[in-house]
Amino acid sequence: MSSIGSDVAAAVTLSAEATRRIDEIVARYPTPRAAMLPVLWIVQGELGWIAPEVMEWVGNRLNCSAASVEAVVGFYTMFDAAPVGKYKLQVCRTLSCELMGARKVIDHLRERLEIEPGDTTEDQMFTLQEVECLGSCGTGPLLQCNFRYHENLTPERVDALLDELRGSEPTDDVTPIIHERPSRDAYREMFPATSR
Ligand code: FES
Repeated sequence: MSSIGSDVAAAVTLSAEATRRIDEIVARYPTPRAAMLPVLWIVQGELGWIAPEVMEWVGNRLNCSAASVEAVVGFYTMFDAAPVGKYKLQVCRTLSCELMGARKVIDHLRERLEIEPGDTTEDQMFTLQEVECLGSCGTGPLLQCNFRYHENLTPERVDALLDELRGSEPTDDVTPIIHERPSRDAYREMFPATSR
């Protein structure tokens, strides 16, 4: 186990394996803070999310301020500055997906889960987030569920996904689920406010 730095950061404890991986990665770079992203990824994998004291710990380890760490955590949606549910549902809201019905998908999830974007369900099962472009603009609307993309979504496909997730455990499988693209008429019916 390893702890580091001030009283607050000293409360952070990592496993020997996480500490070994961090030491190994930091040693690859000319300046410690250049290892910020992989170090944060290891820390989040170990602790689940990145609390303020963890940001301070990372800052101490990488010779930079906790504010610098907080800025990085806040910028990348892969990092969480608050606890999240078992499944993190990140819906792309950038232009291509927005035009293809992302708003309808987000509103459907809000209704089904009874939470707003940024919130987690009471049973700690789902966290709903709106994110910027996920780099799969031709198959929107889409969401990333933990490590996996679900593409060409419709409200019915969102329902099926929620049902499936409720009866399963998270996996590390990153193979995208690319549904067949609905016809133009089907899209017009599902998303009447969007003219295509
Ligand atoms: S706009 Fe949604 S993936 Fe790019």
